[in-house]
Amino acid sequence: MINAQIIQLPKIEDPRGNLSFFETDNHVPFSIARTYWIYDVPGGEIRGGHAFKQQQEFIIALSGSFEVVLQDGKDEKRFHLNRSYYGLYIPSMIWRSLENFSTNSFALIVSDSEYKEMDYIRDFEIYKKAANG
Ligand code: TYD
Repeated sequence: MINAQIIQLPKIEDPRGNLSFFETDNHVPFSIARTYWIYDVPGGEIRGGHAFKQQQEFIIALSGSFEVVLQDGKDEKRFHLNRSYYGLYIPSMIWRSLENFSTNSFALIVSDSEYKEMDYIRDFEIYKKAANG
């Protein structure tokens, strides 16, 4: 089962411009250790294509839109992110790709750990065996 979920974030509407935010535990169900972002993605490119053994992530389309495709070796779920006040929580051990980036899209990703290449599974066959035995 792919138990990723969309989390709605606060949106403080204001004639001067809107404001949204997220906090560890209140909105993101883990302690934030790292933030990174993906931008200037040429049309048609795909990012990701891996799973994390332990890392959990929370992804927001801060501008523009893209799709997050999640697989667990049995099921597939697609999330279209196109609002800066919705985030997608992805638990560990889910295969994930980011696709169909719009022009000028900006993906903000927060994670519960620092960057560790050891935590990546980059081969889908190895992932399926690890996930499903
Ligand atoms: P990767 O996570 O494979 O990119 P994506 O899944 O978004 O396509 O990372 C690409 C490269 O960037 C890889 O060589 C490792 C490096 N990197 C860091 O050094 N720190 C980071 O926090 C991240 C996410 C990547």
